[in-house]
Amino acid sequence: MATTATLTLEGKPYELPVMTGTEGEKAIDVRQLRKESGYVCYDQGYGNTGSCESQITYLDGDNGILRHRGYPIEQLAEQSEFVETAYLIIYGDLPNPKERRDFGDLMRQHAAIDTQMLRIFEGFPREAPPMGMLTSIVSSMAAYYPSLATNNFESDLANFDLTAAMAISKIRTIVAGVYRYRHGMPFNYPKDIPFCDNFLHLMFSEPYKDYVTIPEVSRALNLILLLHADHEQNCSTSTVRMVGSSGANLFTSLAAGICALSGPLHGGANTAVMQMLQTIHDEGDDGTRFIESAKSGDKNHRLMGFGHAVYRNYDPRARIIGHACDVVLNKLGIVDPLLDIAKKLEEAALKDEYFLSRKLYPNVDFYSGIIMRALGIPTELFTTMFAIGRSPGWIANWKEVASQPKGRIYRPRQLYTGPVKRDYVPMARRH
Ligand code: CMC
Repeated sequence: MATTATLTLEGKPYELPVMTGTEGEKAIDVRQLRKESGYVCYDQGYGNTGSCESQITYLDGDNGILRHRGYPIEQLAEQSEFVETAYLIIYGDLPNPKERRDFGDLMRQHAAIDTQMLRIFEGFPREAPPMGMLTSIVSSMAAYYPSLATNNFESDLANFDLTAAMAISKIRTIVAGVYRYRHGMPFNYPKDIPFCDNFLHLMFSEPYKDYVTIPEVSRALNLILLLHADHEQNCSTSTVRMVGSSGANLFTSLAAGICALSGPLHGGANTAVMQMLQTIHDEGDDGTRFIESAKSGDKNHRLMGFGHAVYRNYDPRARIIGHACDVVLNKLGIVDPLLDIAKKLEEAALKDEYFLSRKLYPNVDFYSGIIMRALGIPTELFTTMFAIGRSPGWIANWKEVASQPKGRIYRPRQLYTGPVKRDYVPMARRH
C-alpha cells in the first residue's frame, strides 16, 4: 500500500504522505505543500478536503453507509433512543446503566431556562423566525454562564459534562419556548420525565391540562432526533469546528452551528420539502408537473429532499424515516395527502433518467416533515427540531477540536482572482 504520493510541479517532484483511516479511506497530506512548492490545493466548497481526523461518524456516501462510533445507524434506530445515542456520539461508547442515568439526570437538572434569560424572548417580535430566535438565545448562554464559557479549552473542558448536558437539554427547552412565545402562550416548566416526553409537555401542556404522551408519538420523536444526531463534516458541524478552533467556548460554537443550519440547502430543507408538497397539493398537481420543472436545472425549482452533497445512493436515514412514516401515520390513524404526493414524487423520480443519472435519491428531509406534522409539530419549527437532534454531533465535534490544543486554527487559503495592484484615484479625478 502506498505510503507517499508523488506530485510533480514544474518538473520538480514532491513526496506527499498518504494517510489511511480505520475504514480504509485514503487521504493525501498536503499540509506542507504550500511551504515547499508555493502551491495551494483548490477545492471550492471543500468537497474533496479532509479538514480533520475524527473518530465520531463514518459515512460512505457511495454505498449509503452511516455509522456512529462504529455502530450502524440502522441498529441504533431500531434499538437505541436519542439520549443514549447522544451519549454514544459525545463520549465514544454506549453508556452503562449508571452512566446513562447520570447523563439523563444532568439533563433534567439543567432543563429549565434561567428566569432572566426568558426576558430575551420578549425582545423579539412575535413573528420572529424560530431559527433566528434560537441562535440568539443559545448564543446568550455564553453570557449567562460565563464561568462555563471561558474561551479557554482547559477550563471549558473541565466543565464539559455539565455544558454538554445543559446545551442539549436547554436547546430542546428553548425550541419549545420559541413556539409558545410566537403563539402568545405561557411557557411550561420542564418536568422530571424522559427527554422527548418533556419536549412534548413543554410544547403542548396547557394550564390545568397536562399533555398526555402517546407512546407512538414519543417513539417517533425519539427516532427523528436520533437520525439527525450526527452526520460527519456537514456545513453546520464544520462551522462548529471552525469557530471552536479559534478557542471559542461550546455555547458560542453551537450558536454558530445553528446559524449554518438555517439555510434551505442544509437544515432548512425539511421546511422547504413541506412547502413544496403543500404547493403541489394546492395546485392540484399529483407531482408530475413538478418533477418536470425540477429537471430544468434551475436551483429555485429543485426537488427538495432529494440529492445530497455526499450520498450518491439512498440516504440510509431516508429509508428508515420513509418506513416509520407509514407506521406512525397508521398508528395515529392519520391520512395525509402530502404523504401520497411524496410517495408519488419518489416513485417517479426513482424511474426518471434525470435523477438516476445524477444519483439523486431521497435524503433524510424528504419524509421527516410528514412525521413531524403528524406529531403536531408545526412546519415553522422543523429546522429547530433538526438543531435539537444535531446538538450531540456538534458537541462531540467541538470536544474533538478542544481536546487537541495543538490543532491549528481553521484558516483555509484561496485563489485570488480580483484586480492586480493599482493606485488609489482621488475622488476629484473619478468619473
Ligand atoms: N432537484 C433537481 N436537481 C438536482 C437536485 C434536486 N434536488 N439536486 C441536485 N440536482 C442536480 C443539479 O442541478 C446538478 O445538475 P447538473 O449536473 O445538470 O448541473 C446535479 O444534480 C448535481 O447537483 P449539485 O448541485 O452538484 O449537487 P451538490 O452535491 O452540490 O448539492 C444538495 C447537494 C443537497 C445541495 C442538492 O442536491 C440540493 O439542493 N438538494 C435539495 C435540497 C435538500 O434536500 N437539502 C437537504 C440535504 S440533506 C440534509 C443535510 O444533511 O443538511
